[in-house]
Amino acid sequence: PSILGNCKTVLKCNTAGENYADINWDELGFSLVPTDYMYVMKCAKGDKFSQGSILPYGNLEINPSAGILNYGQGIFEGLKAHRTEDGCILLFRPDENAQRMKRSADRLCMPSPSNDQFVNAVKQIVLANKRWVPPSGKGSLYIRPLLMGTGALLGLAPAPDYTFLIYCSPIGSYHKDKKRLISSLLIITGALNLKVEDKLYKAISGSGGTGGIKSVTNYAPVYTAITDAKANGFSDVLFLDSATGKYIEEASACNVFVVKGNASFTPAIDGTILPGIMGKSIIEIAIDLGYRVLERAVSVEEMLGADEMFCTGTAMVVNSIASVTYKKTRMDYKTGPEALSAKLRTTLVGIQTGCVEDKKSWTV
Ligand code: COI
Repeated sequence: PSILGNCKTVLKCNTAGENYADINWDELGFSLVPTDYMYVMKCAKGDKFSQGSILPYGNLEINPSAGILNYGQGIFEGLKAHRTEDGCILLFRPDENAQRMKRSADRLCMPSPSNDQFVNAVKQIVLANKRWVPPSGKGSLYIRPLLMGTGALLGLAPAPDYTFLIYCSPIGSYHKDKKRLISSLLIITGALNLKVEDKLYKAISGSGGTGGIKSVTNYAPVYTAITDAKANGFSDVLFLDSATGKYIEEASACNVFVVKGNASFTPAIDGTILPGIMGKSIIEIAIDLGYRVLERAVSVEEMLGADEMFCTGTAMVVNSIASVTYKKTRMDYKTGPEALSAKLRTTLVGIQTGCVEDKKSWTV
């Protein structure tokens, strides 16, 4: 109870710097900076997760026949811890990550930690690594929970035992090179130029697939398209539905929104695309700002006729989209401080960092 108690009295860090890791906080991007500790909890065959421990961050020993290595039985989550101006540490909706991990685990036939086990493990690992939570305004501590089949097997079946693990890394902006400081609160990451991918798909359209879970196997399939897009000067790829190729789905690691007048449209969460926690939060904030938000199929045609586009994800929060190129057509969109995405980002980052009142009790 002492380490999980009142944040103002317990978690306050010395802002003079002696309780911070000795790194250049201005240099953070989205790349791994290993921290001191990781959290590990194991689940033996037929058992439940019970007791985890904090271990020094380091390599794992894993059986070559482990389910994760052979059959991709693994899922992950991503969330962040932010430092407030007075030195407290805030998590943003960790219970949502716990619930999503459980849904992903159920789909891949894995046992999962309970909500309380998940959230307590996140708190413990953040506190153990608290000197790596960047000073206020310098970034955040990215928290990466993993759940994987680590038991050995040869036949195609759920692994006999499982490991739940959390590691962390301090991060700055996802697209660091394009960061632009508008005010002390509003860091606008450079608007993205997306290429619509019309040959490769990220996930199978329709319900029943695995696009709606955070399976490790959903991510490497985007590498070919992304590598090609980047080689041609684009920042990311926008994927289409695999059934008809007429509707937009998601970018490689984030949800997308289009804005037309006073309304915003985003592809419905129907089992194909990831139910993003940022996306869900942004929908609520946009409605509070007086926008109509519709979750439904969004056609390529409709996207090309929109005023503005932006994407949402844990790592990037909210990022405006400057252009989308579909075959030979390039469409440019509104960006900058007057764009809806900038307002949404200010509010969301404000709540995450304790600068904007958290009326919805999203922070922990
Ligand atoms: C996140 O935004 O947290 C993700 O999981 C995407 C990851 C590929 C960086």
